[in-house]
Amino acid sequence: MAGERPAQAVILAGGQGTRLRPLTLARAKPVVPLLNRPFLAFQLALLREHGVTDVILACSYRVDDVRAALGDASQLGVRLRYVVEKEPLGTGGGVRNAADLVAGTVFVFNGDVLTDVDLSAMQRFHAERGSRATIFLTRVTDPRQYGLVELDADSRLARFREKPAATETITTDTVNAGVYLLDAALIRRIPGDRPVSIEREFFPALIADRVPSYGWCAPAYWRDIGSPAAYREAQMDLLEGRARMLLSPAGAWDGGSWRAAGGSVASDARVVPPAVLGARVTLHPRCQVGPAAVIGDGSTIGPDARVEGAVLWERVEVGAGAVLRECVIGADVKIGTHARVGPGIVLESGAVIPERATLAR
Ligand code: GDD
Ligand code: MG
Repeated sequence: MAGERPAQAVILAGGQGTRLRPLTLARAKPVVPLLNRPFLAFQLALLREHGVTDVILACSYRVDDVRAALGDASQLGVRLRYVVEKEPLGTGGGVRNAADLVAGTVFVFNGDVLTDVDLSAMQRFHAERGSRATIFLTRVTDPRQYGLVELDADSRLARFREKPAATETITTDTVNAGVYLLDAALIRRIPGDRPVSIEREFFPALIADRVPSYGWCAPAYWRDIGSPAAYREAQMDLLEGRARMLLSPAGAWDGGSWRAAGGSVASDARVVPPAVLGARVTLHPRCQVGPAAVIGDGSTIGPDARVEGAVLWERVEVGAGAVLRECVIGADVKIGTHARVGPGIVLESGAVIPERATLAR
């Protein structure tokens, strides 16, 4: 029913996170840490901010990881339920699998987009137009890796083309941002017995059947965190204030940095804001952490080492004099003394880097 304020959301969290490898070999994409918190916690914070507290996670792959990180999410002020596909059902099938738990107008999120979009404004647009399916659209410089959406003069959906081939002409720079408002009745139209792509099948069918469906462009912050570069950039955006901090990192804020409990910081170690230090982090003498560094729980930064523009997961050991710049380091990695890890490098959890090694792209 258009006009009714949505209180429910379905989050698609069942992809394999292939493009985020090797990070997703160790942890499912929906719960990779963002400023040391599971990614989906940021989406849940946004939903909660707009009064949506009944959330269904449509999972198939590695649901145990997701459950371990989020549980029922009551500490985040929402109620989280899980529906699990036996075989991956695709983006449409995943939403269909949650159909029995939803009613009225429902938000649907791709479980890998970081955004601070005004969901209440989207709902008003949806209601005013009498829309039954509304897609949040964002502008990007290279639209080919996304779903291209063309609108008519009234903002009605005219065409949806998912990841057009290189030979096809690109006619728009507005793409599907992976946030929808849908009538639950439409969700029940999706076949439940086979994989269905919401992008390749469901939206084109709505257009063909002339179901009132609209695109809504908003100038909000938006990023798909599904590649290592984007995953790092999203955290830089949060730290450097380009994205709104929907959820603060754990710990006390002190002059531009967050510091969780435990651990020890040498008196001559330097923390240059912005930075996030997890729980039980040890900073040895004369090391420098930041600007723009995220240090996971239980990590240790050796004497004279430097960590800048980098994201470290839990229990990383950085040897004396090592230099880490603009890279992503998985959990339990050991970086040898005086090693250098440069921009764009992503280290799989458990990797061991010998002393004085140089990793560069
Ligand atoms: N439950 C379930 N089952 N979820 C799935 C499945 C599935 O079989 N397959 C994918 N997902 C989830 C992923 O976990 C992710 O959260 C979301 O669906 C989108 O999948 P991606 O693999 O990240 O798609 P994409 O980034 O290439 O493209 C999508 O997002 C773009 C915006 O970031 C499309 O929706 C594009 O149209 C869009 O522009
Ligand atoms: Mg994606």
